[in-house]
Amino acid sequence: MKNVSYIYKSKYQSVEAVKKVNLTINQGKVYAVIGKSGSGKSTLLSMMAGISLPSEGDIFYNGDSVKKLNMEEYRRDKTSVIYQTFNLFPLMTVIENVIYPLELKGMKYKEVKGIAENHLGSVGLDEQYYMRFPNMLSGGERQRVAIARALATGSKLLLADEPTGNLDVANTDVVFKLLTDLAHQDNLAVVIVTHDLAIANKADIVLQMQDGNLQLMEQS
Ligand SMILES: Nc1ncnc2c1ncn2[C@@H]1O[C@H](COP(=O)(O)OP(=O)(O)OP(=O)(O)O)[C@@H](O)[C@H]1O
Ligand SMILES: [Mg+2]
Repeated sequence: MKNVSYIYKSKYQSVEAVKKVNLTINQGKVYAVIGKSGSGKSTLLSMMAGISLPSEGDIFYNGDSVKKLNMEEYRRDKTSVIYQTFNLFPLMTVIENVIYPLELKGMKYKEVKGIAENHLGSVGLDEQYYMRFPNMLSGGERQRVAIARALATGSKLLLADEPTGNLDVANTDVVFKLLTDLAHQDNLAVVIVTHDLAIANKADIVLQMQDGNLQLMEQS
């Protein structure tokens, strides 16, 4: 991100939610983004995800300005996002949730089934879960399905907005370990917005948002 600002503009006011942020995100690392409510964390993440474009400055993905990329492709192929509320498709089974992004890429059900099963296996969910609907899962299991679905995109940039916000301590540890392994073993870039300082302290790099400004924190 080079001098990236984001301004929410409405008829009555404009809010500068992110102010001139400079930041490089590398593969193989876990980044924690901390900061008070309203400090701009989710806004920052949605720009990384290609959900919104910067109002000022520019974002580069492997050297290419997002302003020149096809944003639909960028969102679909280059990034994946997981949320506090899991955001699984409620009317799809577990396996269908994971298959969906693969089908969006134009792959056929037969070829994607095995890939989806692999991703579910890597988050510790076996065939007894495949045909369940999201409401038949615990919170921790739902978030693991969301991670498997994120992996199915094949993207190297995994963005997580409060991924453990609805989880107990044990599930928080499981999910954080999964995300860490994805960075350290599978060489993804993992960015986690979190209020949980215990989680943040275990990240490789801690970034603090303060009223739209981003600051790199020294890790002890
Ligand atoms: N759609 C919007 N229109 C106007 N202002 C907005 C909009 N969305 C967010 N904001 C404002 O932008 C600022 C940053 O919001 P953002 O959601 O990025 O904060 P956050 O750090 O993610 O907070 P939280 O920890 O509560 O999720 C806040 O002042 C917020 O009120
Ligand atoms: Mg937020």
